[in-house]
Amino acid sequence: MDISVDLEDRKGEVEATSEVISEISSDKVDAFEISQKVNFAYKFAVDIGHENVRFFFYPSRRIISVPSYAATDGRKFFKGLEAKSIIGRHPSDMKVVTLLDNNTVKDYKILYVYLRDILSEVVNFRVPFTLLAGELYSLKKVDVKFLYKIFKQLGFWKVFFIPQPIATAVGLGLDITKPHGYLLLDIGAGTTKIGLVTLYGLSAYKEIEAAGRAMDKRIIDILYKEMSLSIGDRTAEELKKRALDLEYLYNPSKPEEYVMVKGIDSMSKLPTEKEVPKSLIVKAVEPVLYEIIEELKDLMGGISPELISDVLREGIYLTGGLSLTPNIEEYFSYKLNIKVNNTRTDKATIKGLGEILCSKTLFKKITTLREAKDLFHKIYVS
Ligand SMILES: Nc1ncnc2c1ncn2[C@@H]1O[C@H](COP(=O)(O)OP(=O)(O)OP(=O)(O)O)[C@@H](O)[C@H]1O
Ligand SMILES: [Mg+2]
Repeated sequence: MDISVDLEDRKGEVEATSEVISEISSDKVDAFEISQKVNFAYKFAVDIGHENVRFFFYPSRRIISVPSYAATDGRKFFKGLEAKSIIGRHPSDMKVVTLLDNNTVKDYKILYVYLRDILSEVVNFRVPFTLLAGELYSLKKVDVKFLYKIFKQLGFWKVFFIPQPIATAVGLGLDITKPHGYLLLDIGAGTTKIGLVTLYGLSAYKEIEAAGRAMDKRIIDILYKEMSLSIGDRTAEELKKRALDLEYLYNPSKPEEYVMVKGIDSMSKLPTEKEVPKSLIVKAVEPVLYEIIEELKDLMGGISPELISDVLREGIYLTGGLSLTPNIEEYFSYKLNIKVNNTRTDKATIKGLGEILCSKTLFKKITTLREAKDLFHKIYVS
């Protein structure tokens, strides 16, 4: 098929999509679930992340984002923000789970109930025609197979998996219909995805566990070791969002600032509040950033001179939740000596899935990609 025709074909659709898509941040989702339902949908897209599950509904083109947490005691079931706020405060007979852990689906039954409840609460009337799912490469074969089964049980007639970086590139408005390399760095909660996208496909790809949650763990460790302060996962995550500023890593004259942190004093075992230097938070996460940089260098070392020249000219595209960290783009460009375009969004993948779903030509091209076929293979040939 003539690529230039494809491009013309989709221009109007893509513009319309970006105009109409409405974003709802995760903290407003519960209210949204109750007050602003999607009337009718027959095409759906989903990006199941370690921290947030994002949905796209067609034809309303609405995006919602729900935290990837569920809690149950066998009778009551909580999901999303409600379940996340229970962490650390739940009764002993209740378990709180994240849907994905280390690229593995924790509990299929819980995932099924979570998806079923959200779909039935948010959409008034649905004809579950097509579902397009963003796919993590490192998901185990068995997980992809079960996800496929779950989606089928939820009633979807046609289910497609496509590699996440391709959707992310489309969501960022990059023209993937041309032989031109775009290097994407998506730092999420459970994984960092480094993908080189060109001509509807992936030319190189890596997925590592050095990401948001690994940073939270290191923050917990360092506060315990260096300040005798014991904090939980949620406090660590909040601290990372509130106090992490990467300028400390490239500007030695940046004046120290402090942030108050509540926790348990590990000596006295009593509740306490301590003044934590922001540079200590940065010191905690630095090894995780170092790992990401080493993997990036390694991937760039192996790509063709033509593609690397595209990347050097245009720079890297940074996305995912961690792209919201202050001065992260300056830090990466300081370390790699390359331009970094910070997109400051964690919704590029779902936007891209939505745009692919709305464009017949893109949909056809991408779902018949070699990569998509490989994933299909993963499901049926095991
Ligand atoms: N303002 C912020 N500053 C720093 N980190 C942030 C900010 N907002 C969110 N994060 C972090 O980003 C991560 C979530 O990112 P994202 O929503 O892209 O992940 P995900 O897509 O659910 O996970 P994954 O892609 O790994 O499966 C979390 O670790 C969260 O703490
Ligand atoms: Mg993600």
